[in-house]
Amino acid sequence: MKAVEIRGLSYTYPDGTAALKDINMDILPHKRTVILGANGSGKTTLIYHLNGIFLPQEGRVSIGGLPVEKKNLEEIRRRLGLLFDNPDNQLFSTTAYNDIAFGPRNLKLKEEEVEARVLRVLKNIGIKDLKDRPPYNLSLGQKKKVAIAGLLAMEPEILVCDEPFSGLDPRSGGQLMEIINNLNSRGTTLVIITHDVNMAYAWAEQVIIMKEGKILVEGDSSLLRDEDLMKEASLETPLLADVFQGTGLYPRTAREASRLIQMGIKEA
Ligand SMILES: Nc1ncnc2c1ncn2[C@@H]1O[C@H](COP(=O)(O)OP(=O)(O)OP(=O)(O)O)[C@@H](O)[C@H]1O
Ligand SMILES: [Mg+2]
Repeated sequence: MKAVEIRGLSYTYPDGTAALKDINMDILPHKRTVILGANGSGKTTLIYHLNGIFLPQEGRVSIGGLPVEKKNLEEIRRRLGLLFDNPDNQLFSTTAYNDIAFGPRNLKLKEEEVEARVLRVLKNIGIKDLKDRPPYNLSLGQKKKVAIAGLLAMEPEILVCDEPFSGLDPRSGGQLMEIINNLNSRGTTLVIITHDVNMAYAWAEQVIIMKEGKILVEGDSSLLRDEDLMKEASLETPLLADVFQGTGLYPRTAREASRLIQMGIKEA
């Protein structure tokens, strides 16, 4: 069963902007997928279709085999959590605690279970100190952490994040990455939209590149080494691909690169 299946999806905004044009896409369970593409290529519009914020005008979308339709939205939103690019669209309670508790309360869990879940994610994300703060007073990075905590408290099978690292300081970004990787190692399917090709190169098992409302190409992260393709998508090639170009070596992380360089130095 595919985690996400999209067939023939098109979407035009009321002002006539054709944002998605005949999208076909599969995401397999437990995979780490990155969606890349220049500004305005349709990434955010696409993921709004994954949990029914937008319903297909044309084509179909299903999550774990269940069609994204009005009557299925409750179950769809239980399965798939969506982190918006702007956390202000996600936070609306008077305290961070209540924001994080909102989803689990909607699941009609007992209040003790709600509390246990909220306290667990506050601890895991390292934001216990924000528990009683009103979200609208928080910094951008703090808001993002509260928003993601709210999603994690729902324990979704699939987590989709729209530019989760933008606006986070490097340390917070690293912590968020660790949280995300922990989820993945426990089986959560992950889809991340990012402009960071270096992160995509190091992390993704599946890469989807969008251009002008279409999927330009889909494959593994070796696609990102293709200079012509990246130029066509208005993207840069990853730094490590540039540095090791022509060597026949393909390290994807600084650690792998360092190991290869040290082996080379020893041989010389
Ligand atoms: N509410 C809207 N009304 C009209 N057009 C819109 C609306 N929202 C987005 N668009 C247009 O739809 C297209 C796709 O936008 P979208 O936000 O999906 O792109 P994106 O790939 O997420 O870009 P970014 O990297 O800048 O976040 C763009 O041409 C954009 O101008
Ligand atoms: Mg966007």
